[in-house]
Amino acid sequence: MFHTRIAGTGSYLPERVLSNFDLEKLVDTNDQWIRERTGIERRHMAAPGESTSDLAFKASQRALEAAKISANELDMIIFATISGDQMMPATACYLHDKLGCKQIPAFDLAAACSGFLYGLSIADQFIRTGMYKNILVVGAEVLHNFMDYKDRETCILFGDAAGAFVVSRAEVGDKNVIMSSHLKAEGSLAELLVVPGGGSVKPPSLDSLNAGDMFVKMKGREIYKNAVRVMSQCAQEALEHNKVKIEDVAWLVPHQANTRIMEAVADHFDFPKDRVINIVAEMGNTSSATVPVAFDTAVRDGRIQRGQIILITVFGAGLTSGSLLLRY
Ligand code: UT7
Repeated sequence: MFHTRIAGTGSYLPERVLSNFDLEKLVDTNDQWIRERTGIERRHMAAPGESTSDLAFKASQRALEAAKISANELDMIIFATISGDQMMPATACYLHDKLGCKQIPAFDLAAACSGFLYGLSIADQFIRTGMYKNILVVGAEVLHNFMDYKDRETCILFGDAAGAFVVSRAEVGDKNVIMSSHLKAEGSLAELLVVPGGGSVKPPSLDSLNAGDMFVKMKGREIYKNAVRVMSQCAQEALEHNKVKIEDVAWLVPHQANTRIMEAVADHFDFPKDRVINIVAEMGNTSSATVPVAFDTAVRDGRIQRGQIILITVFGAGLTSGSLLLRY
């Protein structure tokens, strides 16, 4: 049995910025409300013509550079997204082409905000069995196209971003590896966060488009309550499974949906808030991209160091959730 190490991380935020003050001009909201209820100050927006795979390409190049390997050495691409370039083919294939990879498998993974962690877990299984050595896991979204800028409960939350990890087979005896991952879904809660249109239930049509079926619809309060519950549960499971105490965790990297949610999870464990990686002010909720972007930011600014124990915990539409414990 082999183990998986995080060989390199990268991220990319598009240049265009939409601040809380910009949103005040679009919907009945204000900077103070958004900051107090969510912690968000601004979000980034892809430029017209800038696709999800374009964002992912930039993040992936940075991750490959950090891992000191070329795209040629990759054995697989796993691309977590709910806002890919097109319905078909997989956005992973466009990224595959941009990177100039060999004939390796490349596929998209739809687990919403939990997608990146689901992807890391899948990559870990392929590396543990010895099947592959180097896997690129990406979380990237261009969500602003799915926002209804008349709905103040959703349009203030989401932004565009990409993050990527290169994960590789660890040397024998290397302790800096993924310890375990724990994935869940509760389909009975699927209706809390949806994009209803564009699929087999409400196929693409002018009527459906005019009805706003392509926009994100959310029951925010319900999501909030369940998010704190499932993220805490999953984090607990990872700690217990590895017999690791919360005091031994250097950094908690939660899904960056809302500062209050992240702090409620930290409070559940009596975990110091200054050891929670929280960059939601800068980018809002970028779904599958939040974890790799937050993680990469903390690696590059020196907070996350090799040898530290890191606990990742996430939730997303579905209602999916999961956790992953690693020694970086
Ligand atoms: O990746 C998962 C994605 N989803 C989430 O993470 C969402 C999780 N939920 C949340 O983050 C919070 O529930 C929200 C930030 C969406 C809302 O915060 P809340 O504290 O749950 O507020 P609320 O929905 O209970 O609304 C409180 C008030 C309401 O007014 P009334 O009925 O008290 O008069 C809302 O109409 O705030 C009003 N409100 C707003 N006011 C100003 C809702 N949105 C806004 C807004 N600006 N943007």
